[in-house]
Amino acid sequence: MSAHQPYGDLVDLNAQGLILETIGREVLETIVADYLQALGTSAAVYEKNGDYAAGIFTSGWCRFLDLRSRELCGTSDNRAALAAGRWHCHESCWHDASEASMSRGEAVDVACRGGIRLYALPIVARGEVVGSINFGYGTPPDDPAELAEVAQRYDVPVERLLGPKKAYRPRSDEVIENTKRHLATTARLIGALIERRFASEERDAQRRLALERDVLLKETHHRVKSNLQVISSLLHLQARKLADAAARGALLESQGRLRSIALVHERTSRADDVSTVEMGGYLASLVKGVGELFEAAARGIAIVVRCDDVSLDVDDAMHCGLVVNELVTNALKHAFPHGRAGTVEVALRGDERSLSLTVSDDGIGLPENLDFRKGGSLGLQLVRALTEQLGGTLKKASGPGTSFVVRFPDQRSSYRTRLVGPRP
Ligand SMILES: Nc1ncnc2c1ncn2[C@@H]1O[C@H](COP(=O)(O)OP(=O)(O)OP(=O)(O)O)[C@@H](O)[C@H]1O
Ligand SMILES: [Mg+2]
Repeated sequence: MSAHQPYGDLVDLNAQGLILETIGREVLETIVADYLQALGTSAAVYEKNGDYAAGIFTSGWCRFLDLRSRELCGTSDNRAALAAGRWHCHESCWHDASEASMSRGEAVDVACRGGIRLYALPIVARGEVVGSINFGYGTPPDDPAELAEVAQRYDVPVERLLGPKKAYRPRSDEVIENTKRHLATTARLIGALIERRFASEERDAQRRLALERDVLLKETHHRVKSNLQVISSLLHLQARKLADAAARGALLESQGRLRSIALVHERTSRADDVSTVEMGGYLASLVKGVGELFEAAARGIAIVVRCDDVSLDVDDAMHCGLVVNELVTNALKHAFPHGRAGTVEVALRGDERSLSLTVSDDGIGLPENLDFRKGGSLGLQLVRALTEQLGGTLKKASGPGTSFVVRFPDQRSSYRTRLVGPRP
């Protein structure tokens, strides 16, 4: 069987490519040849815009008429010939059969200009018509008048048609009906393969988008962190120049606050998950910095962090970090005067409903006359404001020294917590 006509393969002109690329040229030809072999006529697969994804002629009748009407177009250019309107076999195959089946969304069974019939089906993917598949069937006309009409249309002497007509072996109705069913299965198969391609393309696009977003977020966190570090360094330099100890201390504390924020960005820019902060690591590196600033180790003050396996979103992590920064700073500043040694403990615990952040020390305790709900200076004010931001409550627990507990809900969607059990 020679599938292609002397004028070349119309599939070469396919620009749309959806069906052609998804199924592949060879597979399409195999599929088409498979159902065509039962009929021995012609068949085509079209993209939605009419581009050929496959086109095969097997019968002498179809080959002859197709070639003859191609000649009628009077051009050597296939593209121009397709547009000429005189390529009867193409006109029937595309306009009368396939295009009609696509616009109706159902099977079309029509007489073709070459004296046989055409059966076309739309190819549907995700409920949308993406192309069409068809075949010619039936025996060339016996009726002399009909034969003469075809001969006239194709501008050939009737005698030229007799040879190909005689060579065609008629097929039974049963074979034709079976092949129609076969075509429906083929159309569904092509549609399903195209759907799979759509789905995998969507998955790839989503993956790419998520990746791009993560890269962007990481870059943003990285930049914010760098900017904060610059400001923090400036404060440090400025503090070193100040003679007044109180002013110097204030600047250094501000530097500590900035560092708490910068640390969140630093950890997020390095993490796999850019939207949450793993609190154990964050709090550990946070208190390490505060401890160094106040020379805790040299003063015999231990700082311990106990944190459940909790990850918070960036805002909440930052608010917690700032609370811890203030309270640990307070402990190192006020709880251990005159060379007193001791321990500061930071704990973040979670249960089903809420999280509790505790900062305690075994120092001298808060002054009797200080109301932590109203009084204090910037530090405690900040702690109260941050507690509010977290939607939580601030309490003082009893103890030998000072112990503050911030309890805040973990039910809101902004929290992403994983509780896997306490850490040592
Ligand atoms: N852990 C603590 N142990 C003992 N006293 C404390 C402790 N925490 C706070 N205080 C007392 O509470 C006061 C108020 O604390 P607050 O943090 O509001 O102000 P500050 O630390 O003095 O100054 P800043 O505004 O720089 O924080 C402190 O001056 C101190 O007397
Ligand atoms: Mg303070």
